[in-house]
Amino acid sequence: IPVKIFSTPKEGSAYVAYEIAEKIRESQQNGKSIVIGLATGSTPISLYKELVRLHREEGLSFKNVITFNLDEYYPIEKEAFQSYFSFMHRQLFDHIDIDHSNIFIPDGELPKEEIKKHCQAYEQLIDSKGGIDVQILGIGNNGHIGFNEPGSSIFSRTRLITLDNSTRIANARDFQNISQVPRLAITMGLSTILKAKKIFLMAWGMKAPIIAQTVEGDVTEHVPASFLQQHNDCTFVIDETAATELT
Ligand code: F6R
Repeated sequence: IPVKIFSTPKEGSAYVAYEIAEKIRESQQNGKSIVIGLATGSTPISLYKELVRLHREEGLSFKNVITFNLDEYYPIEKEAFQSYFSFMHRQLFDHIDIDHSNIFIPDGELPKEEIKKHCQAYEQLIDSKGGIDVQILGIGNNGHIGFNEPGSSIFSRTRLITLDNSTRIANARDFQNISQVPRLAITMGLSTILKAKKIFLMAWGMKAPIIAQTVEGDVTEHVPASFLQQHNDCTFVIDETAATELT
């Protein structure tokens, strides 16, 4: 996996934002739409800041952009501060000119018996828009991408998953206490992610062990992100701290 190392998250994010902006402009010149897969969590915040800046200061338009988010807690109300629906609007969608009917996020409000259908429809919707052109990823300390926790199959598709304890502990920072963190989530599958034409995985700070394992270790279900070794256009964009265990 090609790895680009930057001194700071800000510089790494600026690189990814520039790459995305180029693809958006190119699709606009061709009169086409572009499909971007989005992540949440702390990692992409600086990327979204830069995309908002490119929109405000450099006239980058998102009018032809269609987005699919990787995941959402289940159950959760859209209006809850911790929902990924709220997060995405706060960090990005409220500040750019995207057509809100082009925004797709798994629905954490559905009754349980409707989830299977919703997940299938999510997959079909991605396909019907032509598939994901650029996918943004973060990585969990256990190697998860999206919420594909260790043990997820390379063939997995959008589905309901049980969050690992370590994931709930890491994400407890956004909740009053750990018991408030939902136990389940809806996530795109590994096969969904691997179908993206171009993938950027970003990692900043204390992620050196999992980055080294993902890039240099075996391809295994124990480290879901290791399947990215089999993708033909995946770039890791990391800072110096996250690079310290690479040989
Ligand atoms: C969230 C997602 C997760 C996060 C991962 C890292 O949409 O896809 O895989 O990217 O849990 O989270 P942070 O960035 O908060 O360290």
